[in-house]
Amino acid sequence: MNSEKFISKSPEETKAFGIHLAKCLKGGDIICLFGDLGSGKTTLIKGIAAGLNINPTNVNSPTFVLMNIYEGLPPLYHFDLYRLEDLHGISSIGYEEFLYGQGVSVIEWADRLGKYLPEQYLKIELKHKKLNERAIRLSAKNRNFNYESFMY
Ligand SMILES: Nc1ncnc2c1ncn2[C@@H]1O[C@H](COP(=O)(O)OP(=O)(O)OP(=O)(O)O)[C@@H](O)[C@H]1O
Ligand SMILES: [Mg+2]
Repeated sequence: MNSEKFISKSPEETKAFGIHLAKCLKGGDIICLFGDLGSGKTTLIKGIAAGLNINPTNVNSPTFVLMNIYEGLPPLYHFDLYRLEDLHGISSIGYEEFLYGQGVSVIEWADRLGKYLPEQYLKIELKHKKLNERAIRLSAKNRNFNYESFMY
């Protein structure tokens, strides 16, 4: 088994998926999110934050910066690369220090990373199906992930 698909029928279900996923995460993990505008990336991150005991109401996409830091054990680094104009932007914030640091990194619009896409990460693809329905596909890239214990 190397990928798993879930259907979410509401923002609350997507958050619950994130809370559940957070239980399988540890510092240093990287999650790359792929999905169009409004596919539920930030909603999922609110769930991940809640699962890491971080207040999810603090989770909002950074508008003028590329990254938000939420204090926690481990901390959560929330990247949103939608406005990234070129890859100089990402190197200028020293993103690697965070990405390969002690926290959990979650990256919206990870496709913008191009050649900087990390070697090992959890890939989550979100697709807009219906008004309140999203398909969420999870796959582990060059790393282990225990899908069986993740199932719920
Ligand atoms: N099943 C669902 N899962 C997640 N969000 C849903 C779902 N159904 C409806 N929604 C709504 O879709 C919107 C998703 O917005 P969200 O900001 O999470 O998406 P995003 O992928 O981060 O968008 P952007 O690319 O603009 O950052 C929210 O308004 C949310 O309430
Ligand atoms: Mg977003």
